[in-house]
Amino acid sequence: MSPDPSGLRAQILERLATVNDPEIHRSLVELGMVKRAEVNDAREASIEIQLTTPACPLKGKIREDIEAALADLDLAAVEIEFSADVTRRRAPDADRQEIPGVRNVLAVGAGKGGVGKSTIACNLAIALAQEGARVGLLDTDIYGPNLPLMLGITERPIVRDEKIIPIEAHGIRMMSIGLLISEEEPVIWRGPMLHTAVRQFLFDVAWGELDYLVVDMPPGTGDVSLSMSQTVPVTGAVVVCTPSAVAVQDVRKAVRMFAQLQIPVLGLVENMRGFVCPHCGEATDIFSSGEAEAMARQMHIPYLGHVPLSPEVRAAGDTGRPLQVVAKDGPIASIFSGIARNLAGQVAVANFQSHRDSLVQIDVPE
Ligand SMILES: Nc1ncnc2c1ncn2[C@@H]1O[C@H](COP(=O)(O)OP(=O)(O)OP(=O)(O)O)[C@@H](O)[C@H]1O
Ligand SMILES: [Mg+2]
Repeated sequence: MSPDPSGLRAQILERLATVNDPEIHRSLVELGMVKRAEVNDAREASIEIQLTTPACPLKGKIREDIEAALADLDLAAVEIEFSADVTRRRAPDADRQEIPGVRNVLAVGAGKGGVGKSTIACNLAIALAQEGARVGLLDTDIYGPNLPLMLGITERPIVRDEKIIPIEAHGIRMMSIGLLISEEEPVIWRGPMLHTAVRQFLFDVAWGELDYLVVDMPPGTGDVSLSMSQTVPVTGAVVVCTPSAVAVQDVRKAVRMFAQLQIPVLGLVENMRGFVCPHCGEATDIFSSGEAEAMARQMHIPYLGHVPLSPEVRAAGDTGRPLQVVAKDGPIASIFSGIARNLAGQVAVANFQSHRDSLVQIDVPE
């Protein structure tokens, strides 16, 4: 028996070839995202679409577009199943070494301290995990590691087979220098030691299989960023800023640094924009608003979203119970989830672009 007696399967594939991934703007068929398209004798279609991330921000849109494309075919039912493969397909990088099992390294940085990098990194990491991704969180703030406190982790990691075992908490795997040294111990790092420490955190930790390794960067532009960029291929960076007008300069500084290090900027997150009154729920813009968004547009950087100034966020961070966990169904957690999905979408776009660029390099004859 021919696998497609009614010719319906061929028609479905033809229609799917007209449906584009909304972010990459290429057809699902061309991108190899159609993993299965079957029709049974009862004319029921079953389709599997392999997304580039389980946190796909546009899953609903893709479903609608597929349903619309198949609407006039003579089908009794259409079942669409989504799976995900976050694997980067890129040209090998002779200078940098991949971390085995880790698909994407994402740096969270800013032009200056105190803007909420660690808060954003930790809540985004948890939000990505809540979307179904396998996530690690690495605190590279050698001078002031805050993530153990923010995540409420006090246990010391153990070493097995010469690898440090990351601590599992809130659905993610986490490692920080703060877990290895005592709080009061001053750490004086010289350049080469710092480089070695960054290398060890990337390669001597048993991260296992991860879709995203979110890296919380120390304040400012400096040695840690340089070490990271020289050691591993970084998929891209998230720049965190606050809404004041002077913050514009800091963003430019951060973007320039990442450009120098050849790390693409995946997007801007504006933190502490607006204040939501815990009593009446009214939102007030304390600083000016909209500048960061306009700046992102001007610099051609995706604006991933903004997080309001909220006593809840601060309290959650200070007590080691991340907001994304304690207020999982609340309005701010849904903001973090939205930003996480936007970020995952930008990772997919960046990976597609580097894949395409590598193909172009290979395909074009000398
Ligand atoms: N949206 C927010 N609303 C209220 N408080 C916030 C918000 N974001 C961050 N904070 C608080 O601001 C302080 C600084 O945040 P955080 O430590 O995340 O910044 P950072 O950029 O990582 O700082 P550093 O440069 O020192 O590493 C923390 O007390 C945190 O709880
Ligand atoms: Mg920090």
